[in-house]
Amino acid sequence: MNIRELFDDMWALYVRINPSVNKVRKLIEQHEGGPVKNDHIAIRTFNHPRVNREVLAKSFLDSGYKPVEDLKFEKKKLDATYYLHDDDDLTRVFISELKLEEFSPELQETINQLINQIPNKAIEQFDFCNSGTPWNPITKETYDFLKEESEYAAWVATFGFIVNHFTISVTDCNSFKNLEQVNAFLKENGYRINDSGGEIKGSVEQGLEQSSILAEDIIVEFDSLEYEPHDIPGCYYEFALRHNGFDGFIAGSADKIFESTDNK
Ligand code: NI
Repeated sequence: MNIRELFDDMWALYVRINPSVNKVRKLIEQHEGGPVKNDHIAIRTFNHPRVNREVLAKSFLDSGYKPVEDLKFEKKKLDATYYLHDDDDLTRVFISELKLEEFSPELQETINQLINQIPNKAIEQFDFCNSGTPWNPITKETYDFLKEESEYAAWVATFGFIVNHFTISVTDCNSFKNLEQVNAFLKENGYRINDSGGEIKGSVEQGLEQSSILAEDIIVEFDSLEYEPHDIPGCYYEFALRHNGFDGFIAGSADKIFESTDNK
């Protein structure tokens, strides 16, 4: 498997889990009259040494990606790094990790128990970062418990290592001139925009504007003796418009974008 095949597999799994994202892409492509480019993908993990962001970044680094910048999200207790490739066709990669030591011993214990279930062999796979949950499904009680402390922890425990969001590059769109137009178009088509911190995060001056639709609920089967599915926010779709050649990310904006998977 090479890096392009990995991205194809990531998109396929993302769409399989969240069918609505494919409808959004088709809508935008219809409006554009052609294919759209991806600005970045985001992957979530924990800072546990077995699965931290360095571990998840390995396949990208082996494929020629370079780490560009580390970002800190104090309030969300997250660290992140983004990676770029010389080949412009290869999307930016953003990997964040939750700082486990800043949470309760109970949360740490719960997450450690999940991570301990992962075989070494699985971690060594090229597509480990797209392997879903290499642990037994958590219970709804565990989900609720984790979500009390960290929505992010609950999301990763439920969905594992998959792309949290793809991002349409509005920078490369022809028919949309700004994010206001994109957001209006999406709302006309029945989608809800994440308005935490305003619908558009960032500014022209900062070099990056971002918006996102809220993650749609998807049916999750937690570990249970009875068949008892629950509706849980899945992945979301993001839209990015870059200015003046800015290639990075803005911590304050991403902080609010993270909330696109919060249970509203
Ligand atoms: Ni993003």
